[in-house]
Amino acid sequence: MKKILVTGHAGFIGSNLVHRLFKEMDGGTIVGIDNLNNYYDPSLKTYRLEELEKAVPAGINYVSVKGSIADRELINKLFEEYKFDIVVNLAAQAGVRYSIENPDVYIESNIIGFYNILEACRHS
Ligand SMILES: NC(=O)c1ccc[n+]([C@@H]2O[C@H](COP(=O)([O-])OP(=O)(O)OC[C@H]3O[C@@H](n4cnc5c(N)ncnc54)[C@H](O)[C@@H]3O)[C@@H](O)[C@H]2O)c1
Repeated sequence: MKKILVTGHAGFIGSNLVHRLFKEMDGGTIVGIDNLNNYYDPSLKTYRLEELEKAVPAGINYVSVKGSIADRELINKLFEEYKFDIVVNLAAQAGVRYSIENPDVYIESNIIGFYNILEACRHS
């Protein structure tokens, strides 16, 4: 039974990926992590998470975590607990103009967060 981590699972691609995995997988564990940031309306992200909760098929262990991939302790804890077979890292900060006003969020998600995920994969 595969254990899959999808980061950014409240986002556009991440939420659609988890719906697809629900359809394609016979069993296993899917863990999603998202910090529900306000780059765009977080209520859309909450809605997507609610739709995912409703769609969980029998036999799939679905765990939704609210948190940042920049939180190294949290990421290490998840990797230790679930020992993922597959990691899909979709939690990221997109946009060019937004980066001028908000450089910190790019450093948090795209540099520190990405680095944490890579390191956790390397050590697992
Ligand atoms: N949508 C597209 O057309 C497209 C095209 C090419 C590449 N991409 C890339 O694919 C990825 C996902 O795109 P998307 O359209 O789903 O974007 P999205 O903004 O809808 O989803 C990203 C999700 O990641 C979450 N997130 C951001 N930083 C986080 C952090 N530090 N910790 C936890 N969660 C965090 C956000 O809350 C959001 O829900 C991005 O890297 C994007 O650049 C998207």
